[in-house]
Amino acid sequence: MRILTVFGTRPEVIKLAPVIQAANERGLEVNVCVSGQHRDMLDQMLADFGITPDYDLDVMQENQSPLEVAARILEQLAPVIATTRPDWLLVQGDTTTAFAAAWVSFHQRTAVAHVEAGLRTQDKFRPFPEEMNRRLTGVLSDIHFAPTERARENLLKEGVPAERVFLTGNTVVDALLSILRRAVVFSDSRLAGLAGRVLLVTAHRRESFGPPLQEICRAVRELVQTHPDITVVFPVHLNPSVRKTVFDLLDGQPRTVLTDPLSYPEFVHLMKRAELILSDSGGVQEEAPSIGTPVLVLREVTERPEAVESGWAQLVGTSREAIVTSARQWLARRRGDGLPVGPNPFGDGRASQRIVDVLLASSRERAWTIGR
Ligand code: UD1
Ligand code: UDP
Repeated sequence: MRILTVFGTRPEVIKLAPVIQAANERGLEVNVCVSGQHRDMLDQMLADFGITPDYDLDVMQENQSPLEVAARILEQLAPVIATTRPDWLLVQGDTTTAFAAAWVSFHQRTAVAHVEAGLRTQDKFRPFPEEMNRRLTGVLSDIHFAPTERARENLLKEGVPAERVFLTGNTVVDALLSILRRAVVFSDSRLAGLAGRVLLVTAHRRESFGPPLQEICRAVRELVQTHPDITVVFPVHLNPSVRKTVFDLLDGQPRTVLTDPLSYPEFVHLMKRAELILSDSGGVQEEAPSIGTPVLVLREVTERPEAVESGWAQLVGTSREAIVTSARQWLARRRGDGLPVGPNPFGDGRASQRIVDVLLASSRERAWTIGR
């Protein structure tokens, strides 16, 4: 059984690393092809998880558009599939790399397995372009690894046959549990000796560029000015549009640490250390219940309502006033007061093993799928 996995961004490495490890341990042959959609943040995560790619399409350009990324992958991936001749092409989530790779794979008549399948907001433009990326990847996929029961139901409602959908949990929990076992050394000395309460912030969604991201930054500025016991840590995404807004509005503010993207162990440690997280990240919404720190979700809609239902996430949108009001309420509680109890909706840390079980049992399914 031979797998070709194709990915290109930070969150894909985090969520596929445990699957690659489980597949290798169970004797599957795994070829890794990175698109290089993210150059720096990808390499940082590959180093964190000790993954050496077999192929690197190296497509990133400064301030690229998703269509440019897709075009370069469409052009360059076919020969890799032709050379490796995988039984399955394995992709994760909703990035342009995942969608483009699934489309190339279809043209090469290679079966596609989709990890973290079935997430939906039902709003075509939120998040943009991820909602369409994941729907289109789903249409091109032959087996679907749904992280939650709701994701499984979304796929069934769209007519995906039940025998092609597997409820696995989210592999981010597997990654998180493995990283929590590691000791952490902060590369930025400002993070090594943080005193007092920490507010951890991330923001990078394309639909928030411009006024919504400015509102988020103004909210952070107001919170730090009105809470003298708080330090803000904001690892700033490398997208130039994000960096310009964040540095314009927050650089030089008191008790505000703007850093480059952090290694996964550093970031996980900070999530645990933080009293509250403000984020528009998909992965952080899944990690909050796993790690036990509440997150205010800086978006109008979420494809991860399970995080909200668990009590660990609150959808606050991007208006300055709404963010400040909700954050104040959380910060006024004594640490630990009124925190949710209950199981983690995103899994038990064994998602990757379940995925590999399915792949190992899949040869008959694959032959049927691709009409060979
Ligand atoms: C992508 C994904 C998004 C995911 C996010 C994770 C799509 C459409 N979007 O969005 O789903 O949440 O990654 O972070 O696939 N850059 C660098 N170095 C890097 C990474 C980015 O310089 O390591 C800069 C480049 O100028 C690049 C720009 O950021 O052109 C945008 O990167 P891109 O991957 O296109 O978009 P993201 O917004 O990061
Ligand atoms: N993350 C990290 N370092 C950082 C910021 C985030 O390791 O400086 C991790 C975070 O724990 C999560 C993932 O990156 O697992 C989320 O990536 P991102 O927000 O870029 O993408 P999304 O999940 O929104 O697609």
